[in-house]
Amino acid sequence: MTHVKTELTHLVQHVFLNHFGYPCEKMMQAPGRANLIGEHTDYNDGFVLPCAINFHVIVASASRSDTIVRVMAADYQNQVDQFDLSEDILPHHYLPWANYIRGVVKILLSRGKILRGMDIVVAGNIPQGAGLSSSAALEVAIIQSFACVCKLDIGRMEIAAIGQQAENEFVGCQCGIMDQLASVEGMLGHALLIDCRSLEIRTIKIPANTQILIINSHVRRDLVESEYNLRHQQCRDAARLMDVKALRDVSVNNLDGSLLQLPEQAAQRARHVISENARTERAAEAMRQGDAQGLGLLLNESHVSLRDDFSVSSEALDAMVECAQEHVSCYGARMTGAGFGGCAVALVDVEQTALFVEETAQ
Ligand code: GLA
Repeated sequence: MTHVKTELTHLVQHVFLNHFGYPCEKMMQAPGRANLIGEHTDYNDGFVLPCAINFHVIVASASRSDTIVRVMAADYQNQVDQFDLSEDILPHHYLPWANYIRGVVKILLSRGKILRGMDIVVAGNIPQGAGLSSSAALEVAIIQSFACVCKLDIGRMEIAAIGQQAENEFVGCQCGIMDQLASVEGMLGHALLIDCRSLEIRTIKIPANTQILIINSHVRRDLVESEYNLRHQQCRDAARLMDVKALRDVSVNNLDGSLLQLPEQAAQRARHVISENARTERAAEAMRQGDAQGLGLLLNESHVSLRDDFSVSSEALDAMVECAQEHVSCYGARMTGAGFGGCAVALVDVEQTALFVEETAQ
Protein backbone atom coordinates (compact mmCIF):
# COMPACT_ATOMS: atom_id res chain seq x y z
CA MET A 1 0.00 0.00 0.00
CA THR A 2 2.92 2.36 0.69
CA HIS A 3 3.84 2.46 -2.97
CA VAL A 4 0.21 3.23 -3.87
CA LYS A 5 0.37 6.19 -1.51
CA THR A 6 3.65 7.33 -3.03
CA GLU A 7 2.16 7.09 -6.50
CA LEU A 8 -0.81 9.10 -5.35
CA THR A 9 1.45 11.73 -3.81
CA HIS A 10 3.36 12.06 -7.09
CA LEU A 11 0.12 12.26 -9.03
CA VAL A 12 -1.20 15.07 -6.84
CA GLN A 13 2.07 17.01 -7.09
CA HIS A 14 2.04 16.57 -10.84
CA VAL A 15 -1.60 17.65 -11.20
CA PHE A 16 -0.89 20.70 -9.05
CA LEU A 17 2.01 21.76 -11.24
CA ASN A 18 0.03 21.20 -14.42
CA HIS A 19 -3.09 22.96 -13.28
CA PHE A 20 -1.68 25.95 -11.39
CA GLY A 21 1.58 26.25 -13.31
CA TYR A 22 3.90 26.25 -10.28
CA PRO A 23 4.91 23.56 -7.70
CA CYS A 24 2.95 23.03 -4.49
CA GLU A 25 4.44 24.03 -1.13
CA LYS A 26 2.94 21.43 1.21
CA MET A 27 1.50 17.93 1.06
CA MET A 28 -0.85 16.69 3.76
CA GLN A 29 -2.58 13.37 4.10
CA ALA A 30 -5.25 11.92 6.36
CA PRO A 31 -6.51 8.33 6.60
CA GLY A 32 -10.03 6.93 6.44
CA ARG A 33 -11.24 4.62 9.20
CA ALA A 34 -12.98 1.32 9.74
CA ASN A 35 -15.02 1.07 12.90
CA LEU A 36 -14.51 -2.26 14.66
CA ILE A 37 -17.49 -1.82 16.96
CA GLY A 38 -19.48 0.97 18.63
CA GLU A 39 -21.84 1.98 15.83
CA HIS A 40 -24.26 4.90 16.12
CA THR A 41 -23.02 5.40 19.67
CA ASP A 42 -20.83 8.49 19.18
CA TYR A 43 -23.72 10.96 18.91
CA ASN A 44 -25.21 9.32 22.02
CA ASP A 45 -22.13 10.26 24.08
CA GLY A 46 -21.06 6.60 24.04
CA PHE A 47 -18.03 4.47 23.20
CA VAL A 48 -16.53 3.66 19.79
CA LEU A 49 -13.60 1.48 18.71
CA PRO A 50 -12.38 2.54 15.27
CA CYS A 51 -9.00 2.14 13.59
CA ALA A 52 -7.43 4.25 10.88
CA ILE A 53 -6.93 2.41 7.59
CA ASN A 54 -4.18 2.51 4.99
CA PHE A 55 -6.27 4.47 2.48
CA HIS A 56 -5.88 8.25 2.42
CA VAL A 57 -6.90 11.64 1.16
CA ILE A 58 -3.92 13.65 -0.07
CA VAL A 59 -3.92 17.43 -0.35
CA ALA A 60 -1.30 19.52 -2.16
CA SER A 61 -1.38 23.23 -1.40
CA ALA A 62 0.36 26.55 -1.70
CA SER A 63 -0.50 29.92 -0.18
CA ARG A 64 -1.58 32.91 -2.25
CA SER A 65 -1.09 36.59 -1.60
CA ASP A 66 -4.84 37.32 -1.81
CA THR A 67 -7.99 35.88 -0.21
CA ILE A 68 -9.01 33.51 -3.01
CA VAL A 69 -9.18 29.74 -2.48
CA ARG A 70 -9.00 27.63 -5.63
CA VAL A 71 -9.54 23.90 -5.36
CA MET A 72 -9.26 21.14 -7.91
CA ALA A 73 -10.55 17.60 -7.27
CA ALA A 74 -8.39 15.16 -9.21
CA ASP A 75 -10.83 12.31 -8.41
CA TYR A 76 -13.77 14.19 -9.90
CA GLN A 77 -12.61 14.70 -13.48
CA ASN A 78 -10.56 17.67 -12.30
CA GLN A 79 -13.65 19.65 -11.28
CA VAL A 80 -12.79 23.02 -9.78
CA ASP A 81 -14.21 25.26 -7.10
CA GLN A 82 -13.26 28.81 -6.16
CA PHE A 83 -14.36 31.06 -3.29
CA ASP A 84 -13.23 34.17 -1.49
CA LEU A 85 -12.29 34.26 2.20
CA SER A 86 -13.39 37.88 2.46
CA GLU A 87 -16.98 37.06 1.44
CA ASP A 88 -19.67 35.00 3.14
CA ILE A 89 -18.93 31.36 2.28
CA LEU A 90 -22.09 29.59 1.11
CA PRO A 91 -22.67 25.96 0.10
CA HIS A 92 -21.82 25.11 -3.50
CA HIS A 93 -24.93 24.56 -5.64
CA TYR A 94 -23.91 21.38 -7.40
CA LEU A 95 -20.48 20.10 -6.22
CA PRO A 96 -21.06 18.15 -2.98
CA TRP A 97 -17.33 17.45 -2.46
CA ALA A 98 -16.64 21.21 -2.43
CA ASN A 99 -18.83 21.71 0.63
CA TYR A 100 -16.53 19.75 2.93
CA ILE A 101 -13.77 22.22 2.05
CA ARG A 102 -15.93 25.34 2.12
CA GLY A 103 -17.43 24.08 5.39
CA VAL A 104 -14.17 23.64 7.29
CA VAL A 105 -12.83 26.95 5.99
CA LYS A 106 -15.96 28.74 7.15
CA ILE A 107 -15.69 27.15 10.62
CA LEU A 108 -11.97 28.00 10.85
CA LEU A 109 -12.82 31.63 10.11
CA SER A 110 -15.72 31.64 12.58
CA ARG A 111 -13.26 30.47 15.27
CA GLY A 112 -11.10 33.50 14.58
CA LYS A 113 -8.32 31.74 12.68
CA ILE A 114 -6.47 34.04 10.29
CA LEU A 115 -6.36 32.39 6.86
CA ARG A 116 -4.67 33.24 3.58
CA GLY A 117 -5.85 32.35 0.12
CA MET A 118 -4.68 28.93 -1.12
CA ASP A 119 -4.37 26.87 -4.26
CA ILE A 120 -5.29 23.26 -3.55
CA VAL A 121 -5.41 19.90 -5.31
CA VAL A 122 -7.21 17.00 -3.62
CA ALA A 123 -7.07 13.28 -4.44
CA GLY A 124 -7.43 10.04 -2.54
CA ASN A 125 -7.93 6.30 -2.62
CA ILE A 126 -10.58 5.89 0.09
CA PRO A 127 -13.70 4.49 -1.59
CA GLN A 128 -16.30 7.25 -1.40
CA GLY A 129 -19.78 6.86 0.06
CA ALA A 130 -18.62 3.50 1.39
CA GLY A 131 -18.68 4.15 5.14
CA LEU A 132 -14.90 4.50 5.41
CA SER A 133 -14.91 8.22 6.24
CA SER A 134 -13.51 9.71 3.08
CA SER A 135 -15.28 12.98 4.02
CA ALA A 136 -13.72 13.14 7.48
CA ALA A 137 -10.29 12.45 5.96
CA LEU A 138 -10.85 15.27 3.46
CA GLU A 139 -11.85 17.67 6.23
CA VAL A 140 -8.84 16.72 8.35
CA ALA A 141 -6.33 17.00 5.48
CA ILE A 142 -7.75 20.40 4.46
CA ILE A 143 -7.65 21.77 8.02
CA GLN A 144 -4.08 20.49 8.43
CA SER A 145 -3.11 22.15 5.16
CA PHE A 146 -4.46 25.54 6.26
CA ALA A 147 -2.92 25.04 9.71
CA CYS A 148 0.47 24.36 8.19
CA VAL A 149 0.48 27.03 5.48
CA CYS A 150 -1.13 29.73 7.67
CA LYS A 151 0.83 28.70 10.80
CA LEU A 152 -2.28 28.18 12.92
CA ASP A 153 -2.02 27.03 16.50
CA ILE A 154 -4.50 24.19 16.40
CA GLY A 155 -4.43 20.84 18.22
CA ARG A 156 -5.68 17.45 17.04
CA MET A 157 -8.85 17.59 19.15
CA GLU A 158 -9.74 20.95 17.68
CA ILE A 159 -9.11 19.67 14.15
CA ALA A 160 -11.59 16.86 14.78
CA ALA A 161 -14.12 19.23 16.34
CA ILE A 162 -13.90 21.63 13.37
CA GLY A 163 -14.49 18.79 10.91
CA GLN A 164 -17.54 17.62 12.84
CA GLN A 165 -18.89 21.16 13.17
CA ALA A 166 -18.54 21.70 9.42
CA GLU A 167 -20.55 18.53 8.72
CA ASN A 168 -23.21 19.44 11.28
CA GLU A 169 -23.63 23.10 10.39
CA PHE A 170 -22.58 23.41 6.75
CA VAL A 171 -23.02 20.03 5.07
CA GLY A 172 -26.14 19.08 7.03
CA CYS A 173 -25.14 15.71 8.48
CA GLN A 174 -25.63 15.44 12.26
CA CYS A 175 -22.65 13.10 12.62
CA GLY A 176 -20.73 12.45 15.84
CA ILE A 177 -17.00 12.94 16.27
CA MET A 178 -15.74 9.38 15.73
CA ASP A 179 -14.60 9.65 12.10
CA GLN A 180 -12.61 12.85 12.47
CA LEU A 181 -10.97 11.68 15.71
CA ALA A 182 -10.05 8.32 14.18
CA SER A 183 -8.49 10.12 11.22
CA VAL A 184 -6.35 12.50 13.31
CA GLU A 185 -5.46 10.11 16.13
CA GLY A 186 -5.18 6.74 14.31
CA MET A 187 -2.09 4.63 15.08
CA LEU A 188 -0.57 1.74 13.13
CA GLY A 189 -1.62 -1.68 14.48
CA HIS A 190 -4.00 -0.17 17.03
CA ALA A 191 -7.66 0.64 17.46
CA LEU A 192 -8.82 3.62 19.51
CA LEU A 193 -11.29 3.26 22.34
CA ILE A 194 -12.92 6.69 22.38
CA ASP A 195 -15.26 7.89 25.08
CA CYS A 196 -17.32 10.32 23.02
CA ARG A 197 -18.46 12.21 26.12
CA SER A 198 -15.13 12.92 27.81
CA LEU A 199 -13.19 12.53 24.52
CA GLU A 200 -10.67 10.39 26.38
CA ILE A 201 -8.86 8.08 23.95
CA ARG A 202 -7.08 4.82 24.72
CA THR A 203 -5.05 3.00 22.10
CA ILE A 204 -5.51 -0.76 22.07
CA LYS A 205 -3.40 -3.23 20.13
CA ILE A 206 -5.16 -5.28 17.51
CA PRO A 207 -4.70 -8.96 18.55
CA ALA A 208 -1.49 -10.24 16.95
CA ASN A 209 -3.00 -13.32 15.34
CA THR A 210 -5.76 -11.38 13.56
CA GLN A 211 -6.24 -9.25 10.51
CA ILE A 212 -9.11 -6.81 9.96
CA LEU A 213 -10.49 -7.03 6.45
CA ILE A 214 -12.88 -4.58 4.84
CA ILE A 215 -15.46 -5.91 2.41
CA ASN A 216 -17.14 -3.35 0.14
CA SER A 217 -20.77 -3.91 -0.95
CA HIS A 218 -20.28 -1.16 -3.56
CA VAL A 219 -23.69 0.19 -2.61
CA ARG A 220 -23.06 3.91 -2.21
CA ARG A 221 -24.94 5.91 0.33
CA ASP A 222 -25.14 9.59 1.08
CA LEU A 223 -25.57 10.39 4.76
CA VAL A 224 -27.22 13.74 4.14
CA GLU A 225 -29.92 12.04 2.08
CA SER A 226 -30.12 8.83 4.13
CA GLU A 227 -31.99 8.18 7.36
CA TYR A 228 -28.87 8.99 9.39
CA ASN A 229 -30.25 12.26 10.76
CA LEU A 230 -33.54 10.54 11.51
CA ARG A 231 -31.74 7.94 13.65
CA HIS A 232 -30.01 10.76 15.48
CA GLN A 233 -33.38 12.36 16.21
CA GLN A 234 -34.93 9.04 17.27
CA CYS A 235 -32.11 8.53 19.78
CA ARG A 236 -32.57 12.00 21.23
CA ASP A 237 -36.30 11.41 21.53
CA ALA A 238 -35.70 8.08 23.28
CA ALA A 239 -33.26 9.73 25.71
CA ARG A 240 -35.81 12.43 26.47
CA LEU A 241 -38.52 9.84 27.13
CA MET A 242 -36.13 7.99 29.45
CA ASP A 243 -35.29 11.27 31.18
CA VAL A 244 -31.53 11.05 30.62
CA LYS A 245 -29.11 13.46 28.97
CA ALA A 246 -28.05 10.85 26.40
CA LEU A 247 -28.61 7.12 25.87
CA ARG A 248 -25.10 6.62 27.23
CA ASP A 249 -26.57 7.27 30.67
CA VAL A 250 -28.84 4.21 30.64
CA SER A 251 -27.39 1.10 32.27
CA VAL A 252 -27.42 -2.14 30.32
CA ASN A 253 -28.52 -3.99 33.48
CA ASN A 254 -32.26 -4.57 33.51
CA LEU A 255 -32.38 -3.09 30.01
CA ASP A 256 -35.67 -4.67 29.02
CA GLY A 257 -37.25 -3.30 32.18
CA SER A 258 -36.04 0.25 31.46
CA LEU A 259 -37.33 0.08 27.89
CA LEU A 260 -40.88 -0.88 28.90
CA GLN A 261 -41.92 2.77 29.12
CA LEU A 262 -41.01 3.45 25.46
CA PRO A 263 -43.03 2.95 22.27
CA GLU A 264 -41.81 -0.09 20.31
CA GLN A 265 -39.61 1.64 17.75
CA ALA A 266 -38.00 3.97 20.29
CA ALA A 267 -37.28 0.94 22.47
CA GLN A 268 -35.55 -0.81 19.57
CA ARG A 269 -33.36 2.19 18.75
CA ALA A 270 -32.45 2.66 22.41
CA ARG A 271 -31.77 -1.06 22.92
CA HIS A 272 -29.23 -1.00 20.10
CA VAL A 273 -27.34 2.01 21.43
CA ILE A 274 -27.33 0.93 25.07
CA SER A 275 -26.30 -2.66 24.32
CA GLU A 276 -23.73 -1.50 21.73
CA ASN A 277 -22.04 0.71 24.31
CA ALA A 278 -21.68 -2.28 26.62
CA ARG A 279 -20.43 -4.47 23.74
CA THR A 280 -17.83 -1.86 22.81
CA GLU A 281 -16.36 -1.76 26.31
CA ARG A 282 -16.32 -5.57 26.38
CA ALA A 283 -14.71 -5.66 22.94
CA ALA A 284 -11.93 -3.34 24.13
CA GLU A 285 -11.34 -5.68 27.07
CA ALA A 286 -11.28 -8.72 24.77
CA MET A 287 -8.70 -6.96 22.59
CA ARG A 288 -6.54 -6.17 25.61
CA GLN A 289 -6.63 -9.87 26.51
CA GLY A 290 -5.81 -10.83 22.90
CA ASP A 291 -9.11 -12.74 22.87
CA ALA A 292 -9.97 -12.88 19.16
CA GLN A 293 -12.83 -15.35 19.70
CA GLY A 294 -14.52 -13.14 22.27
CA LEU A 295 -14.05 -10.06 20.10
CA GLY A 296 -15.46 -11.86 17.06
CA LEU A 297 -18.63 -12.89 18.90
CA LEU A 298 -19.23 -9.27 19.92
CA LEU A 299 -18.89 -8.16 16.28
CA ASN A 300 -21.52 -10.73 15.30
CA GLU A 301 -23.88 -9.54 18.03
CA SER A 302 -23.37 -5.94 16.96
CA HIS A 303 -24.45 -6.76 13.43
CA VAL A 304 -27.67 -8.41 14.60
CA SER A 305 -28.47 -5.39 16.74
CA LEU A 306 -27.79 -2.93 13.88
CA ARG A 307 -29.88 -5.04 11.53
CA ASP A 308 -32.85 -5.81 13.74
CA ASP A 309 -33.07 -2.99 16.28
CA PHE A 310 -31.43 -0.04 14.54
CA SER A 311 -32.52 -0.95 10.97
CA VAL A 312 -29.44 0.41 9.19
CA SER A 313 -28.18 -2.71 7.44
CA SER A 314 -29.11 -3.80 3.92
CA GLU A 315 -29.61 -7.07 2.08
CA ALA A 316 -26.18 -6.84 0.47
CA LEU A 317 -24.48 -6.14 3.82
CA ASP A 318 -26.35 -8.97 5.55
CA ALA A 319 -25.35 -11.40 2.81
CA MET A 320 -21.70 -10.35 2.94
CA VAL A 321 -21.56 -10.53 6.72
CA GLU A 322 -23.17 -13.96 6.75
CA CYS A 323 -20.79 -15.25 4.09
CA ALA A 324 -17.79 -13.91 6.05
CA GLN A 325 -19.01 -15.32 9.36
CA GLU A 326 -19.43 -18.79 7.85
CA HIS A 327 -15.81 -18.98 6.75
CA VAL A 328 -13.60 -21.14 8.92
CA SER A 329 -10.95 -18.42 9.31
CA CYS A 330 -13.36 -15.74 10.52
CA TYR A 331 -13.79 -14.85 14.20
CA GLY A 332 -16.63 -12.44 13.52
CA ALA A 333 -17.98 -9.86 11.09
CA ARG A 334 -20.37 -6.93 10.96
CA MET A 335 -21.36 -3.93 8.90
CA THR A 336 -19.20 -0.90 9.63
CA GLY A 337 -19.94 2.83 9.56
CA ALA A 338 -23.37 4.36 9.30
CA GLY A 339 -24.85 1.54 7.19
CA PHE A 340 -27.53 1.88 4.48
CA GLY A 341 -24.90 0.34 2.14
CA GLY A 342 -21.14 0.67 2.34
CA CYS A 343 -18.77 -1.84 3.93
CA ALA A 344 -18.45 -4.70 6.39
CA VAL A 345 -15.45 -5.62 8.55
CA ALA A 346 -14.31 -9.17 9.24
CA LEU A 347 -11.86 -10.27 11.92
CA VAL A 348 -9.86 -13.06 10.37
CA ASP A 349 -7.04 -15.39 11.44
CA VAL A 350 -3.93 -13.72 10.05
CA GLU A 351 -2.54 -17.02 8.71
CA GLN A 352 -5.67 -17.66 6.69
CA THR A 353 -6.28 -14.23 5.21
CA ALA A 354 -5.48 -15.30 1.65
CA LEU A 355 -7.79 -18.29 1.93
CA PHE A 356 -10.58 -16.07 3.29
CA VAL A 357 -10.21 -13.63 0.42
CA GLU A 358 -10.06 -16.39 -2.19
CA GLU A 359 -13.08 -18.26 -0.88
CA THR A 360 -15.38 -15.37 0.00
CA ALA A 361 -14.67 -12.81 -2.73
CA GLN A 362 -17.00 -13.59 -5.62
C1 GLA B 1 -20.99 8.01 10.38
C2 GLA B 1 -20.83 9.24 11.25
C3 GLA B 1 -20.20 8.88 12.61
C4 GLA B 1 -20.94 7.73 13.28
C5 GLA B 1 -21.15 6.58 12.29
C6 GLA B 1 -22.04 5.49 12.86
O1 GLA B 1 -19.74 7.50 10.02
O2 GLA B 1 -20.03 10.20 10.61
O3 GLA B 1 -20.16 10.01 13.43
O4 GLA B 1 -22.15 8.15 13.83
O5 GLA B 1 -21.73 7.01 11.07
O6 GLA B 1 -21.41 4.87 13.94
